Amino acid sequence: MKNDVKHPAKFSNSMMPIFAERLIGRQRVLDPMAGTCKLTEIRSFGYEGEIYCNEIEPEWAQLGEGKAIISEDDAANLHFADDFFDAICTSPTYGNRMADHHNAMDGSKRNTYRHVLGRPLTEANTGQMQWGDSYKENHIAIWLECRRVLKPEGIFILNISDHIRKGIVIPVSDWHKETVIGMGFELVEELKIATRRLRYGANHTKRIDHENVFVFRRPFLLRSSAISNTSR
Ligand SMILES: C[S@@+](CC[C@H](N)C(=O)[O-])C[C@H]1O[C@@H](n2cnc3c(N)ncnc32)[C@H](O)[C@@H]1O
Repeated sequence: MKNDVKHPAKFSNSMMPIFAERLIGRQRVLDPMAGTCKLTEIRSFGYEGEIYCNEIEPEWAQLGEGKAIISEDDAANLHFADDFFDAICTSPTYGNRMADHHNAMDGSKRNTYRHVLGRPLTEANTGQMQWGDSYKENHIAIWLECRRVLKPEGIFILNISDHIRKGIVIPVSDWHKETVIGMGFELVEELKIATRRLRYGANHTKRIDHENVFVFRRPFLLRSSAISNTSR
């Protein structure tokens, strides 16, 4: 197993104090799509609880060894008990060009999940799903699983960004926000954080200049409509 593997979409450094401020005092936090387990950097900003990093690709999951409790589940089918976590903090894949999954052989610079990992992704990896039905169905299953393992009154921090396709802004962030609210979560905070974006790729001159951070709370009692609409 190579241990020098890179990752194309780590959390921006500016997110770490923002996450830490909201997670301090929570005993047990999960990142269900943890990539390199960068979430552990919240410790530098005062977080003292347990950190669980789940990532479907073993090469990336193992980067968290010694820093967190790691697992390699499909985030739509986690092995944790109901109500196990006090908090969830994650950034899913964005359904953008990073999901291209051809194997570029021409040496061009491609910042895709498949290219950076150096092999085809695991079937359930949403990092190969472009914005569309499959992307949405898989994330609905993942957010329902997050709801299952999160305690009532637990918080769910979601970091997500839109992207531009054929000159049009694709409203990925709003879709996630409305989907999670539809599952019964309450939106308690919404932040727009300016970030430095990639300077190559088809739309490099018209990048979205910010990322979104949504902070949700799982209410003690879920609305019956939320349960019946979305439970599996
Ligand atoms: C945006 S990246 C997260 C990067 C991470 N925040 C970091 O700083 O390293 C999303 C991650 O979700 C993983 N992923 C995608 N689908 C998954 C699934 N079904 N189960 C678990 N992990 C998944 C991808 O392999 C990818 O590493």
